[in-house]
Amino acid sequence: MAILITGGAGYIGSHTCLELLAAGEEIVVLDNFVNASPVACERVRRIAGKDFPVVTCDIRDANGLRRVFDRYPVDAVIHFAGLKAVGESVKKPLEYYDNNIGGTVCLLNVMREKGVKTMVFSSSATVYGASNPVPFREDMPTGGTTNPYGTTKFFIEQILKDLCVSDPEWSVSLLRYFNPIGAHESGLIGEAPNGIPNNLMPYIAQVAVGKREKLFVFGNDYPTSDGTGVRDYIHVVDLAKGHLSALQRARTVHGCEIFNLGTGKGVSVLELLSAFQKASGVQIPYEIAPRRTGDIAVCYADASKAETVLGWKAERSTFDACRDTWRWQKNNPDGYGL
Ligand code: NAD
Ligand code: UD1
Repeated sequence: MAILITGGAGYIGSHTCLELLAAGEEIVVLDNFVNASPVACERVRRIAGKDFPVVTCDIRDANGLRRVFDRYPVDAVIHFAGLKAVGESVKKPLEYYDNNIGGTVCLLNVMREKGVKTMVFSSSATVYGASNPVPFREDMPTGGTTNPYGTTKFFIEQILKDLCVSDPEWSVSLLRYFNPIGAHESGLIGEAPNGIPNNLMPYIAQVAVGKREKLFVFGNDYPTSDGTGVRDYIHVVDLAKGHLSALQRARTVHGCEIFNLGTGKGVSVLELLSAFQKASGVQIPYEIAPRRTGDIAVCYADASKAETVLGWKAERSTFDACRDTWRWQKNNPDGYGL
């Protein structure tokens, strides 16, 4: 049997493909390459020393999806495909709702038609909104999202919960990622944003490699130890391994389960900057700038459920993630050359 990886050419998808191959799973990657390069899949093949099919297809193309399910013996789907830029989602809400929600509904319809009812879904800590106290636990209320991207995750979670209520044969794992950073230790795959990075780690890495002049730290007057925002940065390889554990669980337990994938520890912007400087040996110039609209002060996981139920926990440190990001960025200053 094979696992269909939608968005498998992307940042988290490519790292997850490697972990699945290493565990002896058969995979089929499906991607429309709107935010990825086929080179990432080539690199995964090279590191793993294994081949696998890569299908260029949009998750909103029902006939294209049907052909994939007819051709390959898919028994489960790990669903990464989606648009993820918060700012862009505010400007293009219809595109985000269509791609992320419309695409997921299309995929689910074809899965049901083909009798495949196991899914691991990429959700986000953003569904906790701004009013829960940290650390965030899976049983806290969700919603109150502040942008269409976050709202797509909140709605898709609800759709998947409803689906599991309607039909007990479905097995769905909702994985709420905290802040994925880092890269594979080979330095061959990593995060390759288009244009100016929205997120902290890729921005720091581009300053380090000389592509940007300096980092802008968005606010130093938050109620945190040094005044800068605090997040739960998780190494992407740890995150990828979490998918393997979630998949094993979903293959044996029916219904919808939710897991935070985070480290359980908060790290400030200035702490991450300092860890990166140590790991790379490069000084990063920075300037304090106004707060970014929509940001919350502190966000980190209660990661105990994943450890208890899935037997998974993050093992890599912030330093490891900075070292691995730097190796990737230094060797691939232009990403995959998109
Ligand atoms: P990414 O952009 O690198 O990967 C997403 C992949 O999906 C890309 O390869 C893109 O080409 C593909 N895709 C997008 N729309 C598609 C469509 N309609 N049909 C087929 N393929 C399509 O992003 P990522 O960081 O790897 O994130 C993967 C998933 O995890 C996304 O759903 C994202 O929202 C979610 N997530 C990411 C983060 C993060 O910080 N990176 C945090 C929380 C959740
Ligand atoms: C952001 C998104 C969130 C999404 C997540 C992963 C927003 C408001 N939130 O989360 O919905 O799920 O990315 O894609 O965009 N920072 C700087 N300078 C920068 C960039 C960031 O100081 O150039 C700070 C931020 O203010 C924040 C921290 O670094 O305190 C982390 O920011 P970022 O990497 O963008 O992640 P989130 O804001 O947690």
